[in-house]
Amino acid sequence: MYVRVRPAAAAAAAFLGLTLTLLGGTASYAATGPGSVTGPGSATGPGPAARRAVLGSPVVYAHRGASAYAPENTLAAIDLAMRLGFEWVENDVQRTRDGVLVVIHDDTLTRTTDVEQVFPGRSPWRVKDFTAAEIARLDAGSWFGEEYAGARVPSLRQYLNRVQRNQQKLLLEIKKPELYPGIEEQTLKVLEDARWLDERHVTQRLVVQSFSADCVRIVHRLRPDLVTAFLGTPVAADLPLYAEFTDRINPWHTTITADWVAAVHGLLGAHGKAMEVDTWIVDDAATARKVQDMGVDGIITNAPDVVQEAVDGF
Ligand code: G3P
Ligand code: CA
Repeated sequence: MYVRVRPAAAAAAAFLGLTLTLLGGTASYAATGPGSVTGPGSATGPGPAARRAVLGSPVVYAHRGASAYAPENTLAAIDLAMRLGFEWVENDVQRTRDGVLVVIHDDTLTRTTDVEQVFPGRSPWRVKDFTAAEIARLDAGSWFGEEYAGARVPSLRQYLNRVQRNQQKLLLEIKKPELYPGIEEQTLKVLEDARWLDERHVTQRLVVQSFSADCVRIVHRLRPDLVTAFLGTPVAADLPLYAEFTDRINPWHTTITADWVAAVHGLLGAHGKAMEVDTWIVDDAATARKVQDMGVDGIITNAPDVVQEAVDGF
């Protein structure tokens, strides 16, 4: 198996401790403690360029797998991400009528499967109205391209097994938790059963995110050791509230500025480390370079090859 090695990141990992020491230690770019925020333009540590020099290029996340080139959230999409050399894949988790967690973005099955042909008369074809066995019959690949005919909506367990087999890492999004009471605890149970909550996974291979602050807060309460992210762009003044229960703030790229990114970096997150920013969805080189220059830590993209080339050549 080929796994891309990011030279800048590898070098950063090797020299991070020394370099940060030279820069004055982690406290030089982190705030002095949870609850404090460096204001716009007043971050206490190095700016984006210096930070990039230390940490290397942003980490690239294959959004819904390599979804520009394969049907989103399928095993084919994560396999393709692996073949392209990407470790980190992002997915979306929802729940079937009979309580099985599945990997799909929309809360209806119509856009990415042939559900309307297979189950006519079941409008509006919501994920939560179908059993896992029914969803397993659906073709989740033909809408994207005939070469993917027969791809399935994977269960979360199937998905985890494939990510594990591929030696990849997972940015897991709990999608629309308000539709699925208790999905946080259930997701953690599936992760536990699949042996994704051991120390190695928790510290290196797994991040759980959601657009719902309540959801992220619940995950953090249930498993304080897990790295979590909130999807959104809170105003800088509110960031300390998020820092109490999460490690990352992951915003839509059109909503951010370098000052906002610096404000996030100026806080210590739930695990006492400088908070990070992974932005989405960036699919072109110019935007990738733009957010890289803002100092983001990660870029979530449907076209990971395009973004990786752009940020490597910065
Ligand atoms: O990972 C960020 C991104 O997935 C958030 O938006 O709608 O694609 O889930 P969405
Ligand atoms: Ca998502």
